[in-house]
Amino acid sequence: MSSFLNTDGRHRTLEGWPLVFTTLTILAVLVGGTVEFLPLVLMETNRPTISTVTPYTPLELTGRDLYIREGCVSCHSQQIRPFRDEIERYGEYSKPGESIYDRPFLWGSKRTGPDLSRVGGKYPDLWHVLHLEDPRSTSPNSLMPPYNWLLSQDVNLDNLTAKMNGLRTLGTPYTDSDIEGAVQDAKAQASNIARTISASGGPQGLETKEIVAVIAYLQRMGTDLTKSQN
Ligand code: HEC
Repeated sequence: MSSFLNTDGRHRTLEGWPLVFTTLTILAVLVGGTVEFLPLVLMETNRPTISTVTPYTPLELTGRDLYIREGCVSCHSQQIRPFRDEIERYGEYSKPGESIYDRPFLWGSKRTGPDLSRVGGKYPDLWHVLHLEDPRSTSPNSLMPPYNWLLSQDVNLDNLTAKMNGLRTLGTPYTDSDIEGAVQDAKAQASNIARTISASGGPQGLETKEIVAVIAYLQRMGTDLTKSQN
């Protein structure tokens, strides 16, 4: 043992100065913490990426914001825990790499309704229209509130470009052409969904409505893992 660590040495003296000792301890913890934490966030190889996980399309992004606006996260989680009962009910457990483009993340902590992280593709688009318009029409005892205004309110794509630029600043790899063509892309995806809905006997003319954006987002949820590698 060096004399520095001897109880009757300098360490003992330091301990005798509570303020100095506290300050030095805090400094040591801060420096140590930073050294441990920074590589975690700064090193690309430490990020759990999955090759088939891609950024949201412009319409999905819009739907995600509506999901946030309507507070769906207060009843629905988006994280399947790696337990047998969860996997049997909801599907493959959630991987960290699946939510790297979720800003903010919507993992949630409450399940008044079921977990939605793998709801994409579970129901046809029309089911979501009927369910969001009146949850009791598809799920008789549901206590989910109706969101019928999503069928009549026009979707707002005005700030889509700014939103995608903002996300790019934070690291989402949108290209210039993704951003330039965002509104057009969103409209094209919306009319595809609206066509599927009316072709299956649902209401006409939903392509400009908020509901198609929400459905685009819901149908995307959790489907990245099963996408074929390219
Ligand atoms: C007050 C709590 C509550 C809120 C808020 C809520 N839900 Fe639900 N949700 C439920 C319940 C309960 C169920 C299960 C019964 C049913 O199918 O309606 C459900 C079911 C669902 C399902 C079907 C899930 C499955 O796997 O069968 C979807 C999709 C869904 N909700 C979407 C939404 C969306 C989108 C919003 C926001 C616009 C929302 N929910 C808001 C309670 C809620």
